[in-house]
Amino acid sequence: MAPVVDKAKTRGRFVVIEGIDGAGTTTQVARLAERLKKGGTRPVRTTREPSDGPVGTLVRQVLTGRIVLPGGRAPGWATMALLFAADRMDHVESDIEPFLSTGGVVLSDRYDASSLAYQSVSSGRGGEATIDWIRSLNRLALRPDLTVVLDVPPDVGAARREARGEAAQLYEQNEVQRALAAFYKDLARHMPDDRVVIVEAVGSVEHVEARVMDAYLGHFGSP
Ligand code: TYD
Repeated sequence: MAPVVDKAKTRGRFVVIEGIDGAGTTTQVARLAERLKKGGTRPVRTTREPSDGPVGTLVRQVLTGRIVLPGGRAPGWATMALLFAADRMDHVESDIEPFLSTGGVVLSDRYDASSLAYQSVSSGRGGEATIDWIRSLNRLALRPDLTVVLDVPPDVGAARREARGEAAQLYEQNEVQRALAAFYKDLARHMPDDRVVIVEAVGSVEHVEARVMDAYLGHFGSP
């Protein structure tokens, strides 16, 4: 089936940064953007998922417990997978693809690897059939050129989340995060057609930033 967005027509670079909660994706997206703005010639745009569009805004309300099912439970994993996929298609059409078509670099804090990881782990039935179903929901989503996974041990992620002092979101329990960390280490196997690079993300922000930049340059050859 032809993709909704034809990659051959986009001239930009689409990069995704992934990892468990507390891995540092938001920080490293911002750092990489600064480096690319200084060192390169292409326009750079940072973005995130859930996006700031209408579906993404709804999803954030679910993650913080502002929207619940009657009785107070959070929606189940399959509902969440559909919501995240709807947000993603809207994000690609409204924001990512138009920017890429100008030749820009889009850096996204999370994309469909998060759906494969979080929705399969939270389903409690992370077998291939579940992962395949989630993959099928995202089949028309534009493929990133490069996905960088920030690899941190779950206890490091937990300590960083605690230091932030914010109320825990839907997936921020330690058992879930441990399973997510294992899933992310193995991400390349779940996304065999994508370029996935795992970066060790323990240590100073500056060291991790340098490793992320190396991963970017290793793939694209220039800023
Ligand atoms: P996060 O990226 O940590 O942003 P913030 O700290 O600014 O709220 O929160 C997004 C959460 O949503 C995170 O726990 C991962 C989860 N998520 C999914 O479960 N599936 C997805 O497809 C995406 C994009 C995110």
